Amino acid sequence: MEELVALAKRRGFIYPSSEIYGGLAAVYDYGHYGTLLKNNIQEAWWKNMVLTRRDVVGLDSAIFMHPMTWKASGHVDSFSDPQIDCRDCKYRMRADHLLEKFGYDVDRWPLDKINEILATLRTEGKLVCEHCGRKNLTDARDFNLLIKTNFGSPIGNLKDLAEEDIVYPRGETCQGIYLEYKNIIDSMRVKLPFGIAQVGKAFRNEIIAKQFIFRTREFEQMEMQYFLHPDDMDNKFEYWKNERMNWYITVLGISADKLRFKKHEKLAHYAKAAFDIEYNYACLGKFAEVEGIHQRGDWDLSRHAQFSGVKLDYFDQARNLRFTPHIMETSVGLNRLVLMVLDQALHTEKLENGKTRTVLSIKPSLAPVKVAIFPLQKDEKLLHVAEKLYDDVKMSLVTEFDDAGNIGKMYRRQDEIGTPYCVTVDYQTLEDNTVTIRERDTMKQERISLDSVNEVITKRIINS
Ligand code: GAP
Repeated sequence: MEELVALAKRRGFIYPSSEIYGGLAAVYDYGHYGTLLKNNIQEAWWKNMVLTRRDVVGLDSAIFMHPMTWKASGHVDSFSDPQIDCRDCKYRMRADHLLEKFGYDVDRWPLDKINEILATLRTEGKLVCEHCGRKNLTDARDFNLLIKTNFGSPIGNLKDLAEEDIVYPRGETCQGIYLEYKNIIDSMRVKLPFGIAQVGKAFRNEIIAKQFIFRTREFEQMEMQYFLHPDDMDNKFEYWKNERMNWYITVLGISADKLRFKKHEKLAHYAKAAFDIEYNYACLGKFAEVEGIHQRGDWDLSRHAQFSGVKLDYFDQARNLRFTPHIMETSVGLNRLVLMVLDQALHTEKLENGKTRTVLSIKPSLAPVKVAIFPLQKDEKLLHVAEKLYDDVKMSLVTEFDDAGNIGKMYRRQDEIGTPYCVTVDYQTLEDNTVTIRERDTMKQERISLDSVNEVITKRIINS
């Protein structure tokens, strides 16, 4: 983890937020390369889940929703994690994570059960604060994850909500999808079964776990809610589980042996069945959830219909039947995918000359920069050709130009940001119009014609 965090900062991928003020726990900023990588993963998801499908439409709903949304969804009452505090240093921990370190698989255990085990560990003298090492810990209690803020003026139609102007930055993006279900049915030519997908920020009052971007208080979700008749659920559930797993392998280039499904035995308040896709994070030293695939039944639409008083059903012509559609969702954290891609890609190699190099072997289609162009030396004639090549290529591929002059250092920098191809303009270029192209992972170099750079690299990226 330390190596990854250091590289992410040194090379402009991810910075801790508000560092000049001492930082803000579990909040991060994305630098130039981190933003490019994150956008590439997001685009790959959007293409796969929306643009290439006839049964899924897109949405970009607002972060704020009517506060009744969160009452109806169950989040105000049951969206919580078990929290435990150190009475001495005030450090806050997740009780389930603490127990996992003792080998317990805490999957939505009730508080009583958690506190029972904690009491035994306390008696045995094993229960210590992760921060100060002292033994003065509280019992576990539920800690609601919704973040609260205020609009500053009454919102209207508040029914049972006690506080007039409280709003919640959304705790999951899918609620915006349920609230737009009716508008989408009325405005788009969708027929059951169909999906609505969106990408956007979500906010949770997470108890900090120091896992870099794996668990943050502000994060991006990519969620797809698939509406269907309950008879189709089992079929579609299996279909989407396969689709999603294949996407990791074929589109993100993740090794199949680092991925697995985990079935949830205990379910969230809305779920009828749930599987996670887990990735074996080297930086965490364990398999951990990247995506959840859930059967949500008719919980969401029924509850929003009940709380809003608006009918959210569907008339199925083929079945000649009116009913509330059931929902199957795929929900993945974009930031966890960024961490996964960096985690698999980062490695250090020993070179023949005894030196080492650090490389990010990201799949070329996802790499932040596709090609770097260098003049071999700071020579006017070489610079001229290299700059012209850069101007040609930059219009179709994310391209960098570097004329620092030390070819070894330039390669090293590009290897560390995962650039799959480097092209060098040298003195032979001036004679025969060819350049050297060097491939990141094999370090093999070959000469190709100056005019073909764009085409050759584009083809290799598409086929990667
Ligand atoms: N709509 C369902 C839902 O939100 P979830 O299991 O709570 O389900 C889905 O979250 C995904 O969102 C997770 O698999 C994870 O990738 C991501 N996620 C959840 N909490 C996160 C956090 N605090 N930081 C980063 N990603 C998070």
